[in-house]
Amino acid sequence: MRFGLIGCGRIAQKHLSSLAAVADAELVALSDVVPESMDRAEQHFLALTGRSFAMKKYADYGLLLADPEVEVAIIAASSGLHATIAKAALYAGKHIVLEKPMTLSLKEADDIISLAAARKRTVLVCHQLRYRPIMQTIKKYVENQALGQIHLGVVSMRIHRPAEYYQAAPWRGSWREDGGMLLNQGIHMVDLLQWFLGNVTTVYGDIRKGPIEKETEDVALGLLTFSSGAKGMIEANTVTYPSNLEYSLSLFGEHGTVSIGGPQMDQIYRWAYKEQTESEEHIAALAQQKNEHVTMYQDLIDSIQQESKEVLIHGREGRKALETIFALYQSAVTGRPVVLPLPHFETAQLSDIMKTTGWLT
Ligand SMILES: NC(=O)c1ccc[n+]([C@@H]2O[C@H](COP(=O)([O-])OP(=O)(O)OC[C@H]3O[C@@H](n4cnc5c(N)ncnc54)[C@H](O)[C@@H]3O)[C@@H](O)[C@H]2O)c1
Repeated sequence: MRFGLIGCGRIAQKHLSSLAAVADAELVALSDVVPESMDRAEQHFLALTGRSFAMKKYADYGLLLADPEVEVAIIAASSGLHATIAKAALYAGKHIVLEKPMTLSLKEADDIISLAAARKRTVLVCHQLRYRPIMQTIKKYVENQALGQIHLGVVSMRIHRPAEYYQAAPWRGSWREDGGMLLNQGIHMVDLLQWFLGNVTTVYGDIRKGPIEKETEDVALGLLTFSSGAKGMIEANTVTYPSNLEYSLSLFGEHGTVSIGGPQMDQIYRWAYKEQTESEEHIAALAQQKNEHVTMYQDLIDSIQQESKEVLIHGREGRKALETIFALYQSAVTGRPVVLPLPHFETAQLSDIMKTTGWLT
């Protein structure tokens, strides 16, 4: 499978090292508006693979999408560009690997989903944590009812993002180009929570902005109800002093509790259920396995090659966390719970509300 990478910034490193580790993947083209970033990506990939050919480099991503050699476009440019590039890629007949958040508006997410269906192309949204062996195990236990009925799921993100992080790239911290920190960093936790607990029906939320000069929030809190009746809680901040503390996830069931966390979310806090068979050592070792990007690429390739197989995080799946976070933002604006489905939402409207009402400033 031949890939082209659009956006050669920070997260591109992860895509490059993952592609280098997948036997069936070949990277043939790069695109970035900054030529040095393409050169750096090329050097990095060639060093990883030990190869020595020159890669095709396009300052205009449209030319990469027009290249017939590229079968899959990886979209790793800044979030505000995802929708435009994704739609162009689908029109050009490419499958896409789309970085999270898939878009900054529900309508654009819907456009991508319907375009992919019409063109019979695969869309994979990068909520890669679902591919971690420990997450796959939790999912299996939830589905097998090993924890019994789940009453509550809680996710926390306690990390540090200083002013320099936002100053390093102009798109960061803007509602129009980035979305808030819950949409950028916290979305992985929201995605996991609803993958385990099912569809969200109601969201109540609030957010707070600290003193860093930018538009978006530094603290987000949410109370969720799932269609099963289970409750959920989101607690996320990027003001944890002086450095990242942890990402954590806990599920409290009728006869089981699973709780994991730590800066890399690879520590078991509790793993206990009624009919438990596996040892603590086995689960602790499983939690250390973090090869998720490679498994993600293998899933994508298998799904493209086998017509009957659907990729794990297709567009409709990627949209779910988006809708929940948008509902939380909407609730923060109105002070009221929001019942899903949310008819429409785009993060740009939060920028307009800020400017016209002074909300959050
Ligand atoms: N899945 C994850 O865990 C994860 C982690 C970090 C970032 N991300 C996502 O990846 C995306 C990129 O984040 P980043 O931290 O790498 O940002 P970044 O700013 O470091 O990189 C973005 C790159 O896109 C390039 N770019 C801008 N406009 C372009 C265009 N028109 N054509 C081609 N390239 C263009 C920039 O020059 C830059 O090199 C964001 O959407 C972010 O949310 C995902």
